[in-house]
Amino acid sequence: MKAYRLKAGKPYELTLTDNALEPVPESDEVLIRIRAAGLNYLDLMVANARFGNVDASFVPGADGAGEIVEVGSRVKGWKAGDRVIAGMIVDWAAGPLTVANGERLRGVTMPGSLAEYAVVPATALVAIPAAMPFVQAASLPVAATTAWNAIVAGNVRPGSTVALLGTGGVSLFALPLAKAAGARVIIASSSDEKLARARKLGADVTINYRTTPAWDVALLEATEGRGADLVVETVGVATFERSVNAAAIGGTIFVVGLIGGEETKMPLLKVMVKTLRIVGNQTGSTANLADAVKAIAQSRIEPVIDRVFPFDAAQDAYAYLESGGHFGKVVIDVT
Ligand SMILES: NC(=O)c1ccc[n+]([C@@H]2O[C@H](COP(=O)([O-])OP(=O)(O)OC[C@H]3O[C@@H](n4cnc5c(N)ncnc54)[C@H](OP(=O)(O)O)[C@@H]3O)[C@@H](O)[C@H]2O)c1
Repeated sequence: MKAYRLKAGKPYELTLTDNALEPVPESDEVLIRIRAAGLNYLDLMVANARFGNVDASFVPGADGAGEIVEVGSRVKGWKAGDRVIAGMIVDWAAGPLTVANGERLRGVTMPGSLAEYAVVPATALVAIPAAMPFVQAASLPVAATTAWNAIVAGNVRPGSTVALLGTGGVSLFALPLAKAAGARVIIASSSDEKLARARKLGADVTINYRTTPAWDVALLEATEGRGADLVVETVGVATFERSVNAAAIGGTIFVVGLIGGEETKMPLLKVMVKTLRIVGNQTGSTANLADAVKAIAQSRIEPVIDRVFPFDAAQDAYAYLESGGHFGKVVIDVT
């Protein structure tokens, strides 16, 4: 089969081979013919040796969508031909993350989606909504699960204010989910053009963080000093202190972003005085993904796909995501 192999590092090496061995499912696994692979900032972190398997070359790609072609003997509820996506943390079916269920991550510590075929434990599978094409479905596992978990953790409801940083994959799932929950959405981006597109998707207040670096002050002005009930912290180092400033009393900062590094300063007094909830997250379980998919289908949310690259141009897709020019998701067509 055709498959990419990644050797992480700086620079990383992503090479396409025509004769990789097709994987064989164990009794509790399924074999999937991958049709599309979504890219995430996480895939760049893996490529740049900031996370995951750095020792050996392996098939990268955390997100994928396709159809089942073979089912292990002990698998119940799935059959050949079913259109599926797979949660990234394959053994985390539901409930809390544990040491035992958090070991195997697709495209990070085990083979991922940049191949014609992939083997996945049945515990990771979620059905693709009937009307949704593979390219859109492949954008869901990491970003939509994370955005959904943010909305749930922030107890977002009609009247809430949600702050989003940037117009990448997670933010552009959080935006329509927050709107569907009845919230007011304030979004910051580096680009006026991207902000205009975000307004078309329902963003209520837009702030250009390049021309208005004190976006937290602008957010406080836009909320009469109250702040945001939920800040989806998709950036991290450059924004964390401003996120604390932008959060409402009793608000939640949902910490996922590692853009530009991992260490930041924590303004403890403000965290205490504002009684903030700082909530960490690692994508989510298969059950979280299933809930996100249900919410997206029921609310008729269209995943925002910025660009689809052909399979033999995966390197270009990585470079494009790295350039930061995207709005929403970048996907690789594996058909
Ligand atoms: N822990 C988890 O559960 C989890 C899950 C998913 C993702 N993540 C993390 O969350 C982050 C976002 O992931 P993603 O896949 O959505 O990334 P992405 O699609 O690459 O989007 C990143 C966006 O961040 C914006 N940005 C960059 N610097 C910024 C700044 N200083 N202020 C405000 N916005 C800024 C940019 O938007 P503009 O171009 O609009 O400025 C950029 O497009 C990454 O660090 C990723 O690793 C964590």
